Amino acid sequence: MAVHISVVILAAGEGTRMKSKRAKVLHRAGGLSLAEHVVNTAAALTTEQNIMVVVGHQADQVKAVLAHRGVRFSMQEQQRGTGHAVMACRDAVSHEGLLVVLYGDCPLLSAGTLQLLIDKQAAGNTGATLLTTRLADPTGYGRILLDERGNVRAIVEQKAATPEQQAIQLINPGMYCFRADLLWKHIGELGTDNPAGEYYLTDMVEILNRAGHTIAAMEIPDASELLGINTRIELAEVDRIFRERKCRELMLAGVTIEKPETVSIDMPVSIGIDTIVGPFTQILGRSEIGADCRIGAGCVIESARIEDGVEILPYTLMTTSRVGRGARLGPFSNLRPDNNVGAGAHIGNFVELKKTNIGAGAKANHLAYLGDSDIGEKTNIGAGTIICNYDGAKKYRTEIGARAFVGSNSTLVAPVQISDDVYVGAGSVITKPVPEGALAVARGHQVTKEGWVARRRAKQQTESRG
Ligand code: UD1
Ligand code: MG
Repeated sequence: MAVHISVVILAAGEGTRMKSKRAKVLHRAGGLSLAEHVVNTAAALTTEQNIMVVVGHQADQVKAVLAHRGVRFSMQEQQRGTGHAVMACRDAVSHEGLLVVLYGDCPLLSAGTLQLLIDKQAAGNTGATLLTTRLADPTGYGRILLDERGNVRAIVEQKAATPEQQAIQLINPGMYCFRADLLWKHIGELGTDNPAGEYYLTDMVEILNRAGHTIAAMEIPDASELLGINTRIELAEVDRIFRERKCRELMLAGVTIEKPETVSIDMPVSIGIDTIVGPFTQILGRSEIGADCRIGAGCVIESARIEDGVEILPYTLMTTSRVGRGARLGPFSNLRPDNNVGAGAHIGNFVELKKTNIGAGAKANHLAYLGDSDIGEKTNIGAGTIICNYDGAKKYRTEIGARAFVGSNSTLVAPVQISDDVYVGAGSVITKPVPEGALAVARGHQVTKEGWVARRRAKQQTESRG
C-alpha cells in the first residue's frame, strides 16, 4: 500500500522583517501569494484534504486566498515559533505514514524536488530527511551540522550560531519529511531555551537523534528552488526567478518573447503558439491569450481573454475584458473592466472603453470614451466621440446598432438609442433616440457671410485714420 502523506504548511507568522501591514505569506511573487505557491506544490503530491495550513496572523485573509482549495486550516493563536506552529495541529493531522513540513515563505520549491525528498525518506529507515543546499551567503538561515557519516547532528539558528558555525554554508531551507509517528511522539519535548525564546522546529533534529533516530540530509545543488523570503529584497529576487521560469516555460512551448528579462508574466497565464510578446509588457492574473497574436511593447494586460490572431499595438492597457479573433487594438488604448471586443474590430489610440460591447468589425480608431454601451457590428465611431454615461448621480447605457456611422466629435447623452444604419452628423449632441436608417444632426447651423473680412478691414482702417 502506498504510504500516507500529510503536509503541514506554516503560514501563521507576521513576517516582521517585511515591515508590512500584511502578513508575509499574503505578499505576491510571480503573481500568486506565497501561500498559494506552497499549497500548489503540496497539492501535486497529496490530496488537498491531507494538507493542513497553520494560520494565525491575519488568519481570515490567509484563508481567503486559499478558499478555492480544499485544504484544511489549524489556528495558532499566538505565534511562538515554527515548532509551536506544528504543535497547533497535532490533533488534526494523521499520525501515520510520512509528514512533510513546509514553510509558507519558501514558494519556489517544485513538486519534483519535494517528491525526491519523500522518496528518500520512504526508502530509508531514518527518523526524518531534510533538504539542504549550499549558499555563498548563508546569512539568516539555520546552519546544518553534519556528523561524520553525513547525517544531520543539529541545526543552529543564525542568532545562536558561533562565528565558526556562521561560516558554514550548508543551510536549512525548511523542508522536512518526518516519520509522522516519531514527530508527534516527541514534539512535546521542544523547549524555548534559545535567544528568541521560541519553540524551534529545527530542535527536533537533536530530539530525534537523542531518541536514537538518524536524520538524513538531501543536498540539492541548485539553491534557487529553496530560497526563503524574509525581506522585500528577497521577495523581489524570488519574483524575478518566477518571472524568468514562466518566460522560459512559454518560450519552450512556442511563444516568442522579446527581451524576456523586461517582461512580467504571472504564473497562471496561458499563451498560444507563435504569439509574439514585446518588451516591457506585463500579462497578469489568469489572462488567456490565443495563438498567433502580437502584443506590442509596454502593454499591461490583466485578467483578459484574447482569441487567436489579435494584434495589440504598444502601450495598451486592458483589464477583465475579452477580445475576439483578429481584432486590432492600440497603440495607447485603455480598456477598463468588462468589455467585449468582437472579432476583427479595431480600437485605436486614446480610445477608452468601460463595460462596453463592440460588435464584430466595428471601429473606434481615435480619441473616444465609450462607457456602458453596446455597439453593433461594422459600426464606425468617429474621432472624439464621447458617451456621457453619467449624470452626476447615476450611470446609464447607450445602444448603437449595426453599420451605424457616428460622426467625429459627437456627444451621445445616455440613456440613448441609435438604431441600425444611422448616420450621426459630426459635432452632434444626441439626446433623443434615432430610428433605423435616419440621419441625425444636432448642432448649430453654419452661417457664412461672403466678403465679411474685406469689409471689416476697410472699417478698421477708416477708424484708425480718423
Ligand atoms: C526558519 C528556520 C531556519 C531556516 C529558514 C528557512 C526555524 C526555527 N528556523 O527560519 O532554520 O533556515 O526558516 O527559510 O524553523 N511561522 C508560523 N508560526 C510561528 C512562526 C513562524 O506559522 O510561530 C511560519 C511563518 O509564517 C513562516 C514560517 O513559519 O512562513 C517560517 O518562519 P520564519 O520566522 O520566517 O522562520 P525563519 O527565521 O526564516
Ligand atoms: Mg523565513
